[in-house]
Amino acid sequence: MDSIRIVGGQPLHGEIPIGGAKNATLPLMAAGLLTEERLTLTRVPRLADIETMAELLAQHGIAVERCGNDGRSLSLGGAITNTEAPYDIVRKMRASILVLGPLLARMGEARVSLPGGCAIGTRPVDLHLKGLEQMGAVIELEAGYVVARVAGRLRGATIIFPTVSVGATENLLMAASLANGQTVLRNAAREPEIVDLCHCLVAMGARIGGIGTGELVVEGVDRLHAATHAIIPDRIETGTYACAVAITGGDVVLRDARVDHLGAVSRVLEEAGIGVTEVPEGVRVRRLNGLHGADVMTEPYPGFPTDMQAQFMALMAVAEGASMITESIFENRFMHVSELTRMGARVNVHGASAIVRGVPSLTGAPVMATDLRASSSLILAGLAAKGETVVSRVYHLDRGYEDVEGKLSAVGAKIERISE
Ligand code: EPZ
Repeated sequence: MDSIRIVGGQPLHGEIPIGGAKNATLPLMAAGLLTEERLTLTRVPRLADIETMAELLAQHGIAVERCGNDGRSLSLGGAITNTEAPYDIVRKMRASILVLGPLLARMGEARVSLPGGCAIGTRPVDLHLKGLEQMGAVIELEAGYVVARVAGRLRGATIIFPTVSVGATENLLMAASLANGQTVLRNAAREPEIVDLCHCLVAMGARIGGIGTGELVVEGVDRLHAATHAIIPDRIETGTYACAVAITGGDVVLRDARVDHLGAVSRVLEEAGIGVTEVPEGVRVRRLNGLHGADVMTEPYPGFPTDMQAQFMALMAVAEGASMITESIFENRFMHVSELTRMGARVNVHGASAIVRGVPSLTGAPVMATDLRASSSLILAGLAAKGETVVSRVYHLDRGYEDVEGKLSAVGAKIERISE
């Protein structure tokens, strides 16, 4: 297992390229199941989760080939030959559940392993299943698998989500695009990744209204066709590197980043004393005059994203004053706290909230990554800490960040990967 070694204290200056969004790429790849024609995706990041999704689609019969002179395009095509998503792949990546809606819509049947929980929570999929049942699917749970079938085509329905769910919105959006009749998704997720999926589905011939709002209206069509779609830049990678610049006191341009996708992140960073400004190349981030404590509560978009909570906590650990961080989306997303504490952070957790009292500086230490965003939080802490930090189990990091050590060393960080 690889580790990443950092010697902290270097302010960051220069330019960091932002890649395509992991959480847009995964549903977009699942959309490749919706047509027997070719779907081409460009600006695709090189991430472990993308390889896992390609492996899953390949065993369904969909060939996924990297193409384009930059190797950042994927071409998906082929006939579906298998409607089962096996546990040994699904357990590696929960987003595998996103093949359920497309398989049902195209083949009238699917047998998909339940993803199970993960480090940050139980991660149920009840909203996915209830929505598909409203569209006429018969769903049973058998030995850890979702066994779903529908006689004929799925039928349009009005589905009201009791809680906002990104994955359930994506699964049902894809199913509805080929259903018979109209589907209305109320209290739908509004993340930029949902908007991106809608744009791609429309390019494939889907008929979707209300894009970008919490109410999506889909008129099902008989078939979808080939399309080429450029994936939006990754707003969480953008926010993570913005925190990196903030914590080291640097000044960096995040190339290709979109400030309009940052939602509450840019407002909170500005409140903490960080300048976040749109420039022709992307987004410029710099520390203005000191780093101040700011409070956040994670919420669905356009609120502060839960995927930025751990990174922001690392930043607040060295801010002047205190910060209250409340995690309202997942039930166990404070596992970075114990590792940050070992580096000298002062954090007290009370249920869903953590009080962070800023300290003048953190101290480097050997720490262990527990999940994707916790690992990036530890990298950020290491960039600011005095001395050396070694983050182990960085396979968590590699699921969602491409070439962290290359991107950060290019702007002055002392960081290297230690391959065991
Ligand atoms: C997506 O997960 C993202 N993953 C997550 O990013 C992100 O944290 C999350 O959305 C919230 O923004 C991908 O896009 C691949 P949800 P998802 O359904 O779809 C509850 C990362 O770090 N819920 O919006 O699984 C659920 O328990 C990952 O990149 C149900 O109760 O999240 C949670 O409390 C981590 N029943 C809340 O809704 C359901 O059927 C939000 O979950 C589904 C969800």
